[in-house]
Amino acid sequence: MKFHKPNHNQKISSKTTLLPYGRQSIHTTDIDAVIEVLKSNWLTTGPAVKTFEEALCSNTHAKYSIACSSGTAALHLSMIAANIGPGDNVIVPANTFLATANVVRLMGAEVIFADVDPDTGLMLAKHAEEALTRTEAHRVKAIIPVYFAGQCSYPAQLRELADAHGLLVIADACHALGTTYEADKTRYYVGSNTHSDLTAFSFHPVKTITTGEGGAVTTEDPDLAKKLRIFCNHGMVHNPEEFQNHALAQSSDGSINPWYYELSQPSLNYRISDLHCALGASQLSRLPSIVRHRRALAAHYRARLTGLGPLIRALTVVDKCDAAWHLQVVVIDFERAGITRAGLMALLKENGIGSQVHYIPVPWQPYYKNRYGTARLPGTESYYNSCLSLPLFESMTMTDVDRVVDMLVDFLN
Ligand SMILES: Cc1ncc(COP(=O)(O)O)c(C=O)c1O
Repeated sequence: MKFHKPNHNQKISSKTTLLPYGRQSIHTTDIDAVIEVLKSNWLTTGPAVKTFEEALCSNTHAKYSIACSSGTAALHLSMIAANIGPGDNVIVPANTFLATANVVRLMGAEVIFADVDPDTGLMLAKHAEEALTRTEAHRVKAIIPVYFAGQCSYPAQLRELADAHGLLVIADACHALGTTYEADKTRYYVGSNTHSDLTAFSFHPVKTITTGEGGAVTTEDPDLAKKLRIFCNHGMVHNPEEFQNHALAQSSDGSINPWYYELSQPSLNYRISDLHCALGASQLSRLPSIVRHRRALAAHYRARLTGLGPLIRALTVVDKCDAAWHLQVVVIDFERAGITRAGLMALLKENGIGSQVHYIPVPWQPYYKNRYGTARLPGTESYYNSCLSLPLFESMTMTDVDRVVDMLVDFLN
């Protein structure tokens, strides 16, 4: 089948809005919230951080939430709090952003890449189980399921597998703020950690809500929460009950020196500012309507794509998962369509439509390939060869979706 340029007037005029694959939506209330902080006494480590963390807890039904400077920081902090280190192995899906694997290596631990389901891009329990057989099982300390595109991969099944092997589950939910799922006839919020130990979120501008740059970790475990807070701030301990060097901590009358702090394990400055959190709290107050709209846009994409398979189809919807769609991925049979992915992306771009590929399989990156060689990951390979992310963001309309699909259909003939 040959592709062709559209024969009707689809060329976007300079006045027509360009549609990137993702972008932030900033309302005047968001701007007002940030200005308020600029006029206040606190630009960082102030009340807006606490307000944002509390709002995150109520939106995810989590007990503890620790906001930090990025999703990468959230994952790295999770690794530090979980005491992942040299000699440990961590299972990571091959279809993810670099950060999910990189934080494991930054701790000196090894990554065991798991395959993914070609129809959803998700690592399922069976893929994690297969990855376990490729390594010394006793060395595996954690699994990091990635809730790709906003869908989660049957968290209860992964929890069961993790429990059978004594593993931690650290969910990379950078795509999935607002997603819920059902297990045992109960509905759970991603981030409530019923089936995980820690959950990491990202608030990069293309994500469901944004803080500019930002992230957070949620947990139900008070010890992990305490560690996350300490490691988010260099590893500084401020609680006198935990001080070890009493001679340095106390003055001659036995009282604690007011300037005193202590370090038991080094970390980094992963703090988020009040400016970021004011934006985040303002955006979070709209989360239900943002998620509703993203779901409606994704449903419209699915409806419009129905019947166009096997040439083009949306990702398979995971049973019992109500995703807060972060990405609108379609699976295209490029060979059958007679067009390359790069060619299609160029045509879309020429006509004002952004697209992206999520993701180049991480084990194929030179660093990981040199370290681990080539693993057989057929699901990942099949998914990667056919995926394309189309525009999906808060300020899009159904008409925008129609425009994208009409153009795709035309290009794919
Ligand atoms: C799956 C996944 N994990 C981690 C990250 C890292 O988040 P951040 O960009 O906020 O550091 C991203 C960001 O794109 C992501 O998509």
